Amino acid sequence: MLCMKPLLCKSFVAERGHADYMLGMSEVQTEAPLLPLLICPDPKLRKTARPVTEADRGEVDALIPSMFATMYKAPGIGLAAPQVGRSLRVVTIDLAPDNVPAPIALINPEIIAASDEEAVQQEGCLSVPEQYADVTRPARVKVRYLDEHWVKREIEAEGLLAACLQHEIDHLNGVLFVDHLTALKRNILLRKLAKAQKDQQARR
Ligand code: NI
Repeated sequence: MLCMKPLLCKSFVAERGHADYMLGMSEVQTEAPLLPLLICPDPKLRKTARPVTEADRGEVDALIPSMFATMYKAPGIGLAAPQVGRSLRVVTIDLAPDNVPAPIALINPEIIAASDEEAVQQEGCLSVPEQYADVTRPARVKVRYLDEHWVKREIEAEGLLAACLQHEIDHLNGVLFVDHLTALKRNILLRKLAKAQKDQQARR
């Protein structure tokens, strides 16, 4: 079910040139049960997730398909386990280049190299719904991880995939994209989020 198509992701970056966390991927479905998404300021989003060990294998093998299903349903292009209340170092990503699914599952991902050159991408987050901001990060990263078959891999990424990898690995360390903004921009964005959540609750 899962495969890696980083080259396709690169061509996608060239075409789109910016992050868009609301791609029309809801038609891509898996059978796995959906998980509830935690919304900022849930304190679980601020915890450092623990590394996955061999003892977690059964749990993680079940978690990954559910994370993909939850991510596609949202829809989003990346999800980290803490966003569904699981304090484990697991990430799912699918940039769906040219609307072709290209899922990447990462267990214990680690950034082992980052470029000095930086790049700006517009980012959003399923845990900070409907709020977007430009975020500056290293333009290219190399990430080491275990894939969904528990095989050691490395991926080199640029553009949207590089931003997405860094965004999701941040989640494993309790960091949200808003933390990369100035205090002023962050406060404006979080106030807008709180108001939108309150309005939504009032409408229910
Ligand atoms: Ni996020």
